[in-house]
Amino acid sequence: MKRDFLTVWDLSGSEIEYLIKRSIELKSGVDANKCPLLGKSIGMIFQKSSTRTRISFEVGIYQLGAQVIYLNSSDLQLNRGESISDTAKVLSRYLSAIVMRTYQHSTIDEFAQHFSGSVINGLSDNHHPCQAIADLMTIYESKGILRGIKLVYIGDGNNVANSLVEASAKAGVNITIACPPGFEPDNDIVQRARNYISYNKSSSEIVILHNPFEAVKDADVLYTDVWVSMGQEKDAEVKKSRFKDYQLNSQLLSYANKDIIVMHCLPAHRGEEITDEVMDGQNCLAFDQAENRLHSEKAILEFLVK
Ligand code: CP
Ligand code: NVA
Repeated sequence: MKRDFLTVWDLSGSEIEYLIKRSIELKSGVDANKCPLLGKSIGMIFQKSSTRTRISFEVGIYQLGAQVIYLNSSDLQLNRGESISDTAKVLSRYLSAIVMRTYQHSTIDEFAQHFSGSVINGLSDNHHPCQAIADLMTIYESKGILRGIKLVYIGDGNNVANSLVEASAKAGVNITIACPPGFEPDNDIVQRARNYISYNKSSSEIVILHNPFEAVKDADVLYTDVWVSMGQEKDAEVKKSRFKDYQLNSQLLSYANKDIIVMHCLPAHRGEEITDEVMDGQNCLAFDQAENRLHSEKAILEFLVK
């Protein structure tokens, strides 16, 4: 049966652990000359801009031996009204897998219902699961452990935050989100993650609060993302004023442990959610995180695509 990766929830805790270890193995150069996807063709349909997701998947697919076909959604007949289901049925006849970046998450869900191969979510309005796997890999590389780590996310409870909540619950990470009231991560996602934690008698915790200085206390990892995600441009000015006290800057860092690591999925809006000083500081792993997209996506592809 085909496996999709539409949200972190599609993977079990042990599958996530396997993917992190395999990503680190692939990064070390093991199996560099093997082409497990030789002869396959993989499509990428993107409705939004991308630097890291697009290029890391394109390079990763090439390194695994498959052909990649990048499809800007405006070049497809989708743009002229062909239905998602018909498009998915047609592409099933050519492609073994699809990486999709969409606005509504329901677009990916609908596509996956009608596509015979694996569908991988390269970001939707609600989820960014591939980013979360690369993030856990980066934390594990740096700290040598995931269970019990305190990850603090400061900023908008957006797609990246939702996927980090899910990934943290599955990996035993304690996650604290500090955001302005009204910008919390999706309540259903948080509830499902809390239910998972309690059902599995895991010690991990999901804490949501509004004071970034309180949040950063005893943190191992400090994470942020843009205040205005793709598709939210019309709310930009309101959001920037609501988030101005949620910046990763040297004042906030002065409340943190000295060995804290700073993460950002990128692209960064320097001077908004993060200052130059913190982005370019020695605690910041944002560019390792970006590199790790390549290794973790290869692990995801190798695991899913048959
Ligand atoms: N982090 C991330 O997904 O970056 P892109 O939007 O450049 O793909
Ligand atoms: N939250 C951001 C992430 C970009 C990688 C967005 O959706 O634009």
